[in-house]
Amino acid sequence: MTGSVLYLCSAKKAGDKHMKKIHKKCNDSLVTMTELVLPNDTNPLNNLMGGRLMHWMDIAAAISAQKHSNRIVVTASVDNISFSKPINLGNVVTLEAFVTRAFNSSMEVFIQVSAEDIPSGRKTETNSAFFTFVAVDQTGRPIDVPEVHPESDLEMELYEGALRRRQLRLVLAKRMKPEDANELKSIFKLQ
Ligand SMILES: CC(C)(COP(=O)(O)OP(=O)(O)OC[C@H]1O[C@@H](n2cnc3c(N)ncnc32)[C@H](O)[C@@H]1OP(=O)(O)O)[C@@H](O)C(=O)NCCC(=O)NCCS
Repeated sequence: MTGSVLYLCSAKKAGDKHMKKIHKKCNDSLVTMTELVLPNDTNPLNNLMGGRLMHWMDIAAAISAQKHSNRIVVTASVDNISFSKPINLGNVVTLEAFVTRAFNSSMEVFIQVSAEDIPSGRKTETNSAFFTFVAVDQTGRPIDVPEVHPESDLEMELYEGALRRRQLRLVLAKRMKPEDANELKSIFKLQ
Protein backbone atom coordinates (compact mmCIF):
# COMPACT_ATOMS: atom_id res chain seq x y z
CA MET A 1 0.00 0.00 0.00
CA THR A 2 1.41 3.42 -0.89
CA GLY A 3 1.53 6.42 1.43
CA SER A 4 -1.01 8.13 -0.81
CA VAL A 5 -3.76 5.79 0.25
CA LEU A 6 -5.46 7.03 3.37
CA TYR A 7 -7.30 3.88 4.00
CA LEU A 8 -8.69 0.89 2.26
CA CYS A 9 -11.66 -0.41 4.16
CA SER A 10 -11.57 -4.14 4.18
CA ALA A 11 -13.94 -6.19 2.12
CA LYS A 12 -16.40 -7.73 4.51
CA LYS A 13 -16.08 -11.05 2.85
CA ALA A 14 -14.90 -12.40 -0.45
CA GLY A 15 -17.28 -11.46 -3.25
CA ASP A 16 -18.85 -8.63 -1.26
CA LYS A 17 -19.70 -6.07 -3.93
CA HIS A 18 -20.16 -3.36 -1.31
CA MET A 19 -16.44 -3.13 -0.62
CA LYS A 20 -15.67 0.45 0.42
CA LYS A 21 -13.54 2.59 -1.84
CA ILE A 22 -9.96 3.76 -1.50
CA HIS A 23 -9.56 7.48 -0.69
CA LYS A 24 -6.72 9.57 -2.08
CA LYS A 25 -5.58 13.09 -1.27
CA CYS A 26 -5.76 15.96 -3.78
CA ASN A 27 -2.01 16.20 -3.39
CA ASP A 28 -1.63 12.68 -4.81
CA SER A 29 -2.96 13.91 -8.14
CA LEU A 30 -1.13 17.25 -8.15
CA VAL A 31 0.59 17.95 -11.46
CA THR A 32 2.77 20.94 -12.27
CA MET A 33 3.69 21.34 -15.92
CA THR A 34 5.90 24.10 -17.33
CA GLU A 35 6.10 25.24 -20.95
CA LEU A 36 8.01 28.00 -22.77
CA VAL A 37 5.99 29.95 -25.37
CA LEU A 38 7.94 29.60 -28.62
CA PRO A 39 7.24 31.33 -32.00
CA ASN A 40 5.43 28.24 -33.30
CA ASP A 41 2.93 28.50 -30.39
CA THR A 42 1.82 32.05 -31.18
CA ASN A 43 -0.64 34.00 -33.33
CA PRO A 44 0.35 37.00 -35.51
CA LEU A 45 0.20 39.23 -32.39
CA ASN A 46 2.93 37.10 -30.78
CA ASN A 47 0.50 35.81 -28.16
CA LEU A 48 0.00 32.16 -27.24
CA MET A 49 -2.72 30.54 -29.39
CA GLY A 50 -5.77 29.43 -27.42
CA GLY A 51 -5.72 25.97 -28.98
CA ARG A 52 -2.12 25.36 -27.90
CA LEU A 53 -2.97 26.39 -24.34
CA MET A 54 -6.03 24.10 -24.32
CA HIS A 55 -3.82 21.24 -25.52
CA TRP A 56 -1.38 21.82 -22.65
CA MET A 57 -4.29 22.09 -20.17
CA ASP A 58 -5.77 18.82 -21.44
CA ILE A 59 -2.43 17.03 -21.03
CA ALA A 60 -1.75 18.34 -17.51
CA ALA A 61 -5.31 17.57 -16.39
CA ALA A 62 -5.21 14.09 -17.95
CA ILE A 63 -1.97 13.24 -16.13
CA SER A 64 -3.60 14.40 -12.90
CA ALA A 65 -6.64 12.14 -13.47
CA GLN A 66 -4.32 9.24 -14.33
CA LYS A 67 -2.37 9.78 -11.11
CA HIS A 68 -5.62 9.73 -9.09
CA SER A 69 -7.07 6.67 -10.77
CA ASN A 70 -3.98 4.75 -11.94
CA ARG A 71 -6.02 4.07 -15.07
CA ILE A 72 -6.30 5.08 -18.69
CA VAL A 73 -8.50 8.19 -18.78
CA VAL A 74 -10.45 9.97 -21.50
CA THR A 75 -11.61 13.58 -21.56
CA ALA A 76 -15.39 13.66 -21.13
CA SER A 77 -15.93 17.43 -20.93
CA VAL A 78 -14.43 20.84 -20.29
CA ASP A 79 -16.65 23.36 -18.54
CA ASN A 80 -15.38 26.72 -19.68
CA ILE A 81 -12.10 28.36 -20.58
CA SER A 82 -11.90 32.14 -20.86
CA PHE A 83 -8.99 34.00 -22.41
CA SER A 84 -9.07 37.37 -20.71
CA LYS A 85 -5.32 37.94 -20.50
CA PRO A 86 -2.92 37.24 -23.38
CA ILE A 87 0.20 35.16 -22.78
CA ASN A 88 3.22 36.53 -24.65
CA LEU A 89 5.97 34.97 -26.71
CA GLY A 90 8.85 34.04 -24.39
CA ASN A 91 6.65 33.70 -21.29
CA VAL A 92 6.96 30.62 -19.11
CA VAL A 93 3.56 29.02 -18.63
CA THR A 94 2.89 26.98 -15.48
CA LEU A 95 -0.12 24.66 -15.33
CA GLU A 96 -1.19 23.21 -11.97
CA ALA A 97 -3.88 20.53 -11.84
CA PHE A 98 -5.41 18.25 -9.22
CA VAL A 99 -8.52 16.10 -8.85
CA THR A 100 -11.15 17.92 -6.76
CA ARG A 101 -13.70 15.11 -6.53
CA ALA A 102 -14.31 11.68 -7.97
CA PHE A 103 -17.72 10.12 -8.51
CA ASN A 104 -18.02 6.60 -9.92
CA SER A 105 -15.78 6.46 -12.97
CA SER A 106 -15.50 10.22 -13.49
CA MET A 107 -13.16 12.75 -11.90
CA GLU A 108 -13.32 16.53 -11.88
CA VAL A 109 -9.89 18.16 -12.34
CA PHE A 110 -9.26 21.81 -11.47
CA ILE A 111 -6.49 23.45 -13.45
CA GLN A 112 -4.92 26.86 -13.01
CA VAL A 113 -2.63 28.55 -15.49
CA SER A 114 -0.14 31.33 -14.87
CA ALA A 115 2.32 33.10 -17.15
CA GLU A 116 5.67 34.50 -16.06
CA ASP A 117 7.90 37.01 -17.77
CA ILE A 118 11.18 35.87 -16.30
CA PRO A 119 13.32 38.96 -17.06
CA SER A 120 10.89 41.22 -15.15
CA GLY A 121 9.78 38.56 -12.66
CA ARG A 122 6.11 39.41 -13.40
CA LYS A 123 3.76 36.45 -12.90
CA THR A 124 0.06 36.59 -13.81
CA GLU A 125 -2.79 34.16 -13.24
CA THR A 126 -4.27 33.83 -16.72
CA ASN A 127 -6.79 30.97 -16.91
CA SER A 128 -8.54 28.27 -14.92
CA ALA A 129 -10.94 25.51 -15.85
CA PHE A 130 -12.63 22.31 -14.73
CA PHE A 131 -12.08 19.21 -16.83
CA THR A 132 -13.94 15.92 -16.41
CA PHE A 133 -12.13 12.67 -17.14
CA VAL A 134 -13.50 9.16 -17.13
CA ALA A 135 -11.31 6.19 -16.19
CA VAL A 136 -11.74 3.31 -18.62
CA ASP A 137 -10.54 -0.26 -18.92
CA GLN A 138 -8.63 -1.62 -21.91
CA THR A 139 -11.87 -1.94 -23.87
CA GLY A 140 -12.91 1.67 -23.18
CA ARG A 141 -15.57 0.80 -20.60
CA PRO A 142 -15.89 3.17 -17.59
CA ILE A 143 -14.37 1.76 -14.41
CA ASP A 144 -14.65 2.91 -10.77
CA VAL A 145 -11.99 5.20 -9.29
CA PRO A 146 -10.89 6.04 -5.72
CA GLU A 147 -12.68 8.83 -3.84
CA VAL A 148 -11.05 12.15 -2.98
CA HIS A 149 -10.22 13.19 0.57
CA PRO A 150 -9.97 17.02 0.56
CA GLU A 151 -7.76 18.63 3.22
CA SER A 152 -7.14 22.36 2.70
CA ASP A 153 -9.86 25.06 2.69
CA LEU A 154 -9.55 25.40 -1.11
CA GLU A 155 -9.75 21.63 -1.62
CA MET A 156 -12.86 21.45 0.60
CA GLU A 157 -14.53 24.36 -1.19
CA LEU A 158 -13.85 22.78 -4.59
CA TYR A 159 -15.00 19.37 -3.32
CA GLU A 160 -18.29 20.83 -2.05
CA GLY A 161 -18.98 22.66 -5.33
CA ALA A 162 -18.12 19.68 -7.52
CA LEU A 163 -21.49 17.97 -7.17
CA ARG A 164 -23.28 21.12 -8.32
CA ARG A 165 -20.92 21.54 -11.29
CA ARG A 166 -21.34 17.86 -12.20
CA GLN A 167 -25.12 18.22 -12.29
CA LEU A 168 -24.90 21.38 -14.38
CA ARG A 169 -22.59 19.79 -16.97
CA LEU A 170 -24.69 16.61 -17.14
CA VAL A 171 -27.87 18.65 -17.65
CA LEU A 172 -26.16 20.69 -20.40
CA ALA A 173 -24.94 17.46 -22.03
CA LYS A 174 -28.52 16.12 -21.84
CA ARG A 175 -27.34 13.27 -19.64
CA MET A 176 -29.45 14.37 -16.67
CA LYS A 177 -32.97 15.74 -16.51
CA PRO A 178 -33.11 19.24 -14.99
CA GLU A 179 -35.75 18.01 -12.53
CA ASP A 180 -33.27 15.43 -11.18
CA ALA A 181 -30.55 18.03 -10.53
CA ASN A 182 -31.27 18.54 -6.83
CA GLU A 183 -28.09 20.48 -6.10
CA LEU A 184 -28.97 23.03 -8.78
CA LYS A 185 -32.52 23.34 -7.51
CA SER A 186 -31.20 24.26 -4.08
CA ILE A 187 -29.12 27.11 -5.60
CA PHE A 188 -32.08 28.56 -7.45
CA LYS A 189 -34.39 27.78 -4.50
CA LEU A 190 -36.73 25.74 -6.72
CA GLN A 191 -39.04 23.11 -5.24
C1 LIG B 1 -16.73 9.49 -21.63
C2 LIG B 1 -17.26 8.08 -22.00
C3 LIG B 1 -16.22 7.03 -21.59
C4 LIG B 1 -18.54 7.85 -21.19
O1 LIG B 1 -19.00 6.59 -21.56
P1 LIG B 1 -20.55 6.15 -21.43
O2 LIG B 1 -20.68 4.84 -22.05
O3 LIG B 1 -21.40 7.26 -21.87
O4 LIG B 1 -20.61 5.89 -19.90
P2 LIG B 1 -21.64 6.32 -18.79
O5 LIG B 1 -22.93 6.90 -19.28
O6 LIG B 1 -21.70 5.13 -17.89
O7 LIG B 1 -20.85 7.49 -18.04
C5 LIG B 1 -19.63 7.22 -17.41
C6 LIG B 1 -19.25 8.45 -16.66
O8 LIG B 1 -18.98 9.51 -17.56
C7 LIG B 1 -19.64 10.68 -17.11
N1 LIG B 1 -19.91 11.50 -18.26
C8 LIG B 1 -20.38 11.11 -19.44
N2 LIG B 1 -20.52 12.18 -20.26
C9 LIG B 1 -20.12 13.25 -19.56
C10 LIG B 1 -20.03 14.64 -19.86
N3 LIG B 1 -20.39 15.15 -21.04
N4 LIG B 1 -19.59 15.47 -18.89
C11 LIG B 1 -19.21 14.99 -17.70
N5 LIG B 1 -19.27 13.68 -17.36
C12 LIG B 1 -19.73 12.84 -18.29
C13 LIG B 1 -20.90 10.15 -16.45
O9 LIG B 1 -21.46 11.13 -15.58
C14 LIG B 1 -20.35 8.96 -15.72
O10 LIG B 1 -19.74 9.41 -14.51
P3 LIG B 1 -19.77 8.48 -13.19
O11 LIG B 1 -19.33 7.10 -13.61
O12 LIG B 1 -18.77 9.11 -12.29
O13 LIG B 1 -21.15 8.50 -12.64
C15 LIG B 1 -17.59 7.96 -23.52
O14 LIG B 1 -18.60 8.88 -23.84
C16 LIG B 1 -16.38 8.19 -24.40
O15 LIG B 1 -15.56 7.32 -24.59
N6 LIG B 1 -16.29 9.41 -24.97
C17 LIG B 1 -15.17 9.77 -25.84
C18 LIG B 1 -14.00 10.24 -25.00
C19 LIG B 1 -12.93 10.83 -25.88
O16 LIG B 1 -12.68 10.33 -26.96
N7 LIG B 1 -12.29 11.89 -25.38
C20 LIG B 1 -11.29 12.61 -26.15
C21 LIG B 1 -10.02 11.91 -26.30
S1 LIG B 1 -9.29 11.38 -24.80
